[in-house]
Amino acid sequence: MRIAMFSTKPYDRRSFEAANAAGFELLFLEPRLTAETAVLARGAEAVCPFVNDDLSAPVLGALAAGGTRLVALRCAGFNNVDLKAAARLGIAVARVPAYSPHAVAEFTIGLLLSLVRGIHRAHQRTRDGNFALDGLLGFDLHGRTVGVIGTGKIGALVARSLALGFGCRVLAQDPFPDPALDAAGIAYAELPTIVAQADIITLHCPLTPETRHMVRAGTLALAKPGLVLVNTSRGGLIDAEAAIEALKTGRLGGLAIDVYEQEADLFFEDLSNEILADDVFARLLTFPNVLVTGHQAFFTREALGAIAATTLGNCTRFAAGEPLGASAVTEAAVVAKP
Ligand code: NAI
Repeated sequence: MRIAMFSTKPYDRRSFEAANAAGFELLFLEPRLTAETAVLARGAEAVCPFVNDDLSAPVLGALAAGGTRLVALRCAGFNNVDLKAAARLGIAVARVPAYSPHAVAEFTIGLLLSLVRGIHRAHQRTRDGNFALDGLLGFDLHGRTVGVIGTGKIGALVARSLALGFGCRVLAQDPFPDPALDAAGIAYAELPTIVAQADIITLHCPLTPETRHMVRAGTLALAKPGLVLVNTSRGGLIDAEAAIEALKTGRLGGLAIDVYEQEADLFFEDLSNEILADDVFARLLTFPNVLVTGHQAFFTREALGAIAATTLGNCTRFAAGEPLGASAVTEAAVVAKP
């Protein structure tokens, strides 16, 4: 079976070639999947896209016309796929439901620590011979109230780590509470209660029409002044313009993001010689209390190996006519917890 892989980088080639014991014909393509590039997949029974590839109805239509019958996402999120259109076109959709939740959870804690203690800024300063501490005053995580929104695989790890490792008071929100978190002293509460009480909020729920801009002007107006917000989930959860306004007034005391709603035009590329056209993103970069990384929370050796193994396992099962099991993505999976 031929698998057309979009948005690939050298590290994708290395991990997928190492995991390709089944001998699939892997076509490593650098461009993102769009209506214009879908033609590159002609003749490939499977397409393997990444987080910022376009899997809207017109693109899926073009893929189906070229003979594609499987979309094997090499990521967990599937907010970029029109599942209705895929079903109508007879295209199966698979993802990697869990590759290393630890990779993302650990990165989240790293971002939070760096932001509240100014570690990234200290690194820049000391390299320039500046050992002054002014402007680097942080606060203890111990004893702080942290809101964890979404306690699935990643959120549960972050919640436990903050509650048990750092001694934070963790309030969680999820339509499907995890009873196992009780033992770690983690309590569930409604979003407005969490927003009103939290010193820190970290987002770990999927992007859906319901969760888009769950952090917006109205939400931030309820927050304690100085709230620190962390997002390693999906950029669309935050209305970035509202976040900028809240940063300007101090309502938001810090923002650490690994994802950004319009990241598809920015992330995973070296744009250091380009003019940044996104004024909202450019404004975010000007704040001393904003820390941005380019969707790298997943990026560990363990995660890349597991992504390649599961993705190619999904292709093997599909080629053999077997069910895709927990990797299958259907509309029902968007509303019901697997
Ligand atoms: P998961 O499916 O295990 O957990 C998501 C949780 O969010 C579930 O428990 C679900 O019930 C809950 N949820 C759904 N709607 C909610 C709402 N309105 N409010 C609160 N909770 C809600 O997913 P997992 O693996 O923990 O991933 C979480 C997110 O992290 C995903 O959306 C994914 O897109 C993102 N992600 C980001 C990565 C990165 O590199 N930055 C890498 C991997 C995942």
